[in-house]
Amino acid sequence: MHEALESAFSLDGRVAVVTGAAGGIGREAAITFAQAGADLVIADVGEEGLAGTAEMVRAIGRRVVVRRTDVSDVADVDSLARTAIDELGHIDVWANVAGVIRYFPIVDAVEPDVRRIVDVNLLGVYWGVAAAARAMGSQGRGSIINIASAGGDVPAPTLSVYGMTKAAVMHLTKTAAAELGPRGIRVNAVAPGFIETPMTSPQFTDADGTVDPARRIQVLAVKSSSSPLAMTGETTDITYAMLYLASDASRFMTGQTMRPNGGVFMV
Ligand SMILES: NC(=O)c1ccc[n+]([C@@H]2O[C@H](COP(=O)([O-])OP(=O)(O)OC[C@H]3O[C@@H](n4cnc5c(N)ncnc54)[C@H](O)[C@@H]3O)[C@@H](O)[C@H]2O)c1
Repeated sequence: MHEALESAFSLDGRVAVVTGAAGGIGREAAITFAQAGADLVIADVGEEGLAGTAEMVRAIGRRVVVRRTDVSDVADVDSLARTAIDELGHIDVWANVAGVIRYFPIVDAVEPDVRRIVDVNLLGVYWGVAAAARAMGSQGRGSIINIASAGGDVPAPTLSVYGMTKAAVMHLTKTAAAELGPRGIRVNAVAPGFIETPMTSPQFTDADGTVDPARRIQVLAVKSSSSPLAMTGETTDITYAMLYLASDASRFMTGQTMRPNGGVFMV
């Protein structure tokens, strides 16, 4: 690859914090960032998954700090930022990937479910943006990446709360970009379409955890049918967009939502 291009997309010497890194898109983001040269601070409530991700990052040859963190807890998120600075010296990239999904009709909504989705998917991102901005402000540079969803663009029955949190994340991204740009901090979002991960696989998994191959094919076919490309995505379809936003390749980009979604929604 041409040297200028390689350096534009490189994360050499950078420190990236990734929440939701125990599996799925967050784990893949940690791997992609490590492959691009970053050292990692990985956070999640799932400690076993985090250990697995840490192993993968180490195998790539990058340093990794593991920190169990509940992103809905502001003190925990602040402490994650402090750990990153104490252990690795600075924070250049902060990716808010942690999220939860629950399906229920509005008429059946119960308060604990509604509050949990808002606490993790929206306030978890908010606390992450705030902690990252404080850490990056003193450096005068940084990139914050928030994971939204096509569910924040396309209204889907039973996903009222999930959808509203993801739409709000896209708006928060714009406000934060406007506020933090003068301090050298860029804030962008990525709104994925359907990706097969631990979040979506229960749609074709039996109660004992085994995948039902026929149901899997059926679900993927239904999801693909709303894409002009007739496909669903893979985790790297999201993390390559995240790498662009994390790196200097996107230095002129802030307040935007990238939509690797197979074309299921177009702006
Ligand atoms: N998979 C998809 O099709 C899809 C589509 C659009 C958006 N997304 C978004 O992508 C992000 C990653 O999802 P995924 O598909 O990789 O699912 P996933 O379930 O594999 O990953 C989510 C991670 O977040 C962690 N998490 C949950 N609550 C947490 C909390 N309070 N604090 C810290 N970590 C917590 C989970 O333990 C899990 O490891 C989510 O924000 C999700 O909404 C996924």
